[in-house]
Amino acid sequence: MDTVTEIKNRADIVELISQYTPLSRSGKTLKGLCPFHSEKHGSFFVYPDNQTWHCFGACATGGDIFSFIMKKEGLTFGEALERLAEKYGIQLPSRYQPTPEHDRLDDLFRLNAAAAQYFHDLLLTSPAADKARAYLDKRGVNAGSIADFQLGYALPEWQALKDHLNQAGYPDDMLLEAGLLGRADTGRLYDRFRDQVIIPIADVRGRITGFGARVLNDSQPKYLNSPETPLFSKSATLFGINLAASAIRQADTAIIVEGYLDVIISHQYGFKNTVASMGTAITEKQIGILKKLSRQLVLALDADVAGEEAMTRCVPFENLLESEIKVAVAPAGQDPDDVIRHDSVDWTNLIALAGPLVDFVFNHAAIGFDLRTAAGKSGLAEKLLPVVAGIKDPVRRGHYLAELAGRVGATTADLQYSLNRLKQPPAPHRLEPGAPATVAPPPALASPIEDYFLALLLKHPELKPQCKAVKPEYFESVENREIYAACLASDDLAVIRQRLDAAIRDGFDRLLGAPAPDNRLAERLSECALRLEEKHLKATAIKIKDVLNAEIDKGSSAEILKFQEQGLALDSRLAELFKRKEDRHRGPGR
Ligand code: UTP
Ligand code: MN
Repeated sequence: MDTVTEIKNRADIVELISQYTPLSRSGKTLKGLCPFHSEKHGSFFVYPDNQTWHCFGACATGGDIFSFIMKKEGLTFGEALERLAEKYGIQLPSRYQPTPEHDRLDDLFRLNAAAAQYFHDLLLTSPAADKARAYLDKRGVNAGSIADFQLGYALPEWQALKDHLNQAGYPDDMLLEAGLLGRADTGRLYDRFRDQVIIPIADVRGRITGFGARVLNDSQPKYLNSPETPLFSKSATLFGINLAASAIRQADTAIIVEGYLDVIISHQYGFKNTVASMGTAITEKQIGILKKLSRQLVLALDADVAGEEAMTRCVPFENLLESEIKVAVAPAGQDPDDVIRHDSVDWTNLIALAGPLVDFVFNHAAIGFDLRTAAGKSGLAEKLLPVVAGIKDPVRRGHYLAELAGRVGATTADLQYSLNRLKQPPAPHRLEPGAPATVAPPPALASPIEDYFLALLLKHPELKPQCKAVKPEYFESVENREIYAACLASDDLAVIRQRLDAAIRDGFDRLLGAPAPDNRLAERLSECALRLEEKHLKATAIKIKDVLNAEIDKGSSAEILKFQEQGLALDSRLAELFKRKEDRHRGPGR
């Protein structure tokens, strides 16, 4: 059995997705708020029977566990594979190695280092950088911090960095790939960062992955960051980690703040175990990086609504860390850098007094409800029960259940009942991680029509323009989606193969070896494209029916209407598709 299939057999999609959004049973399906877009009413469904998910709201898309993790964590297929293999205790085959891109990435790292040095020299010596030096001085950043963080300045010119780096031997396409240049509609290249303080961002090994840049006045946006590049991914970045790692190990605690300046000022005042989350949302990737250094985290995000929301969303990470996350709350309206500069002893105390995250969430949630009323009590219970249900540790779960019972004046037994209903029964083929797969695998999503289509397309890339209407989501299996995407990106089989993760190269080779017809190609391909679309629409229609039946049982009329409408829209797409098929069979001019 190949690794992908093995992971699909071991994984339980319900358990996996529950870590991101609470799900409640709804007929044959499970329902929750979509973890990809913000919504008030759940339009996100999980189908344990075929281990898939679908969002009928803004996303209007779905997939399997791989596509879920890829979308949610911004991972490539290869990264998702590694993540899931680790989670389910599956050994990746030893031939599995990330594609050897090292040389190219090394070149990009060298380029970033050269850019950082150039910006840094300008800040230290250029007369044009007077206002940048004055700005940093006003923000309380001293010369030591400027050196430690290698802060810099970008000139207010369109091609100053470009000219400098071109002369140093770095070509434009590398500068573009590193996100240092932008390309105007006219085709002209320009420096991305201009007239800003430059903040190099490094990985844990100190290699510069990207840059943040702050404007020198109050204009918006305040910060401009590198775009996503082969080196820089915002969601996998912790600003300051290179300078904080050893202090985090030593203190066995990491302090997470929101902003660049918060980190710089923290380090300057001796709080060297501080990193920033690059804005509010904290991701599983960031937690993964920190977990290797310490399991104790103190969140010190801004005391604004976004900061509080972000902290609430961290509760599931306690299960990953297997320890309690703490929260330090700065006085309203003050960022950590303000507090520290005002009096660093205050900051020491705030960190020392940091309380449990779930306490914070409880207190924060209570603000919205009038607990003297029945409605207020049920509102609070409804809001906090999923939080409690998400706590894996039974002792801590019990503690918060009792706490909630006290607050809403219910018995623990009553709440326990509701809690049990929230926790879904395990899916039939669910296994403990690492346990041998003894149950029959669910139908591997092998699809002859998908294979046939891809085999045809791989042999005849010249047909590509004809299948523009075929969307990646028409492919049920993640392997085929990957192959299709690689196929769209290049005509060269060697390049396509190289792009694919090692784990799906076997499947790819099989497709290449499959017999494919050599006549009536265009016709066969478009026939195939129609059948793929039909298969996709029909599968979605079945999903909507499952959802609709559950909503009808519950009698929630607004929801029923919503899904009925989507069902009708789907029916008419199918009807239209059948018409297209018929027209084809009748043939032209008959
Ligand atoms: P804040 O808006 O809280 O900025 O964003 P700040 O750090 O307090 O900014 P200063 O103190 O006025 O300089 C927190 C972090 O969110 C990211 C940056 O990492 C910032 O430090 N951010 C914010 C952006 O990437 N872009 C923005 O436009 C704003
Ligand atoms: Mn600030």
